[in-house]
Amino acid sequence: NEAPADQIERIRKIKTDFGPDLMMVAHHYQKDEVVAFADARGDSLKLAQIAAGNHTAKKIVFCGVHFMAETADILTADNQDVILPDPMAGCSMADMANPFQLTKAWQYLTAKYGDSIIPVTYVNSSAAIKAFVGQKGGVVITSSNAKTIIQWALKQAKHLLFLPDQHLGRNIALDLGINPDEIGLWRAQQDKLEADQPEKLRVILWDGYCSVHQQFKLHHVQNLRRQYPDIKIIVHPECAHEVTAAADFVGSTSALINYVKQAPVGTRIAIGTDNNLVGRLKANHPTKKVMFLNPFSCACILMNRIDLPHLAWTMDQLAAGKSGHVIKVDSQTAYWAKQALDRMLKLSL
Ligand code: 13P
Ligand code: SF4
Repeated sequence: NEAPADQIERIRKIKTDFGPDLMMVAHHYQKDEVVAFADARGDSLKLAQIAAGNHTAKKIVFCGVHFMAETADILTADNQDVILPDPMAGCSMADMANPFQLTKAWQYLTAKYGDSIIPVTYVNSSAAIKAFVGQKGGVVITSSNAKTIIQWALKQAKHLLFLPDQHLGRNIALDLGINPDEIGLWRAQQDKLEADQPEKLRVILWDGYCSVHQQFKLHHVQNLRRQYPDIKIIVHPECAHEVTAAADFVGSTSALINYVKQAPVGTRIAIGTDNNLVGRLKANHPTKKVMFLNPFSCACILMNRIDLPHLAWTMDQLAAGKSGHVIKVDSQTAYWAKQALDRMLKLSL
């Protein structure tokens, strides 16, 4: 039971000793105690771009969740180690799609639509899912490039399978002007397509969701608007469509941060996303009235698995010449997943 101050001092010292050989990156949802050490902070797209662009650091301590560390491993060179301080830091949404289920869905959908269907996966998915998608000519998206890339994908094929987040998929499809009756739902537990007229579908959504963002409800938006008529409500696109449709702004974690930064002093802003990020925005912008959209929500408990003790343990391991929890994707999976990721990075330039 070491005092946090001692852990902080040790992490700092080991980090300084490694110099540019070690880089620490953190997703915006990480705790303040972790973010404090990060050389770079970002949303999923930025973290992927950083991984793809850094060829100096031999050790990349990745403070985020498992699929992000896998993505970083795929995009970095073979002599770079991506280390996740707690390998149990997963993503419940990413766990809602596995290759076995996807193979079944793909067999069904290609039997129906032939080769006029393209798979698109949210970056919140395992490397194995990305590899499947890459092998079929598909692409990865993140919340910040979703619209551009889904638009691109719909030019490549008449039909599109999007997984695993039904909400992000539905929000973007409706935003692109696709009719609700052209959007269907793939029930992965039952290997079943839910649609009145399957032949009319343009977009087939996997039935996954984020357990954090599904806690934001329309009544939260309505109650706050009643209480504060001039309030601005901003949410992440993983929220359900009835919530995003009622919001003033929808965007990735980085876009939400920018919105708060640019808002005039005195603006009251309620935010629908992970608590760590909203709490930090509240603290960093005392001249604006930043609030939680759902006061009883909503931290990502998986992101929160990375904390000071895990970070200190990891740094101790590295200082002792040991490896920590290195995330390594096998070479064949990495090869195909990289095809889908590279397509995304090219389309995001
Ligand atoms: P961003 O890409 O917007 O940072 O989102 C990642 C995520 O997991 C949101 O729940
Ligand atoms: Fe996954 Fe949701 Fe946590 Fe993001 S907030 S990492 S989507 S569980």
